[in-house]
Amino acid sequence: MANSYSADWYTIFLDSIPAGLTQVEVAFIERQLPLDEFPRVLDLCCGPARHAAVLSKLGYRVHGVDVNESAIRQARTICPDATFEVLDMRKLESLPGPFDAVVNLWHSFGYFDDATNFDILCRIRALLRPAARAKQSANLAQDVEVGGVVEVTEAVPEIDDCVEGARQ
Ligand SMILES: C[S@@+](CC[C@H](N)C(=O)[O-])C[C@H]1O[C@@H](n2cnc3c(N)ncnc32)[C@H](O)[C@@H]1O
Repeated sequence: MANSYSADWYTIFLDSIPAGLTQVEVAFIERQLPLDEFPRVLDLCCGPARHAAVLSKLGYRVHGVDVNESAIRQARTICPDATFEVLDMRKLESLPGPFDAVVNLWHSFGYFDDATNFDILCRIRALLRPAARAKQSANLAQDVEVGGVVEVTEAVPEIDDCVEGARQ
């Protein structure tokens, strides 16, 4: 099953993300991927640069990819310091690596059959330099580990606080 997003999806969900949540998520990335060790980051399924924009300001060299052309157009406008391209995550072999880290955030993985999902993980691994890291998360408050490629080890309770605060 393909994972596609309409313009309405971006408006309804991305625009309603509580202020502060992105900052909390980026702080998590900074802790897990210190800039001096992991400067070159691939934001896989970057959307309209929600994280890439903040990471770039912090000094990370971010390349963002997303299958959605309109999201990439928006990303380029919002974040001129990073590079972006329209790319299906099943075609990662065309990307110039290596990267120090790959981040794949907010429900952006696992929508294909098992063989395809596994193939994507292998391609992510192939893009990473030795000792690099890949972070994938449905919600950064949850720990996820898949096949040694994916590693999210730190619970972030502030994320739940942000989401709860926005509901009230
Ligand atoms: C839930 S959004 C998350 C966006 C961004 N990571 C964030 O946290 O704001 C999922 C993103 O995955 C992208 N996507 C879905 N299928 C994809 C694919 N096959 N290849 C690349 N991107 C894809 C969508 O276009 C969408 O921008």
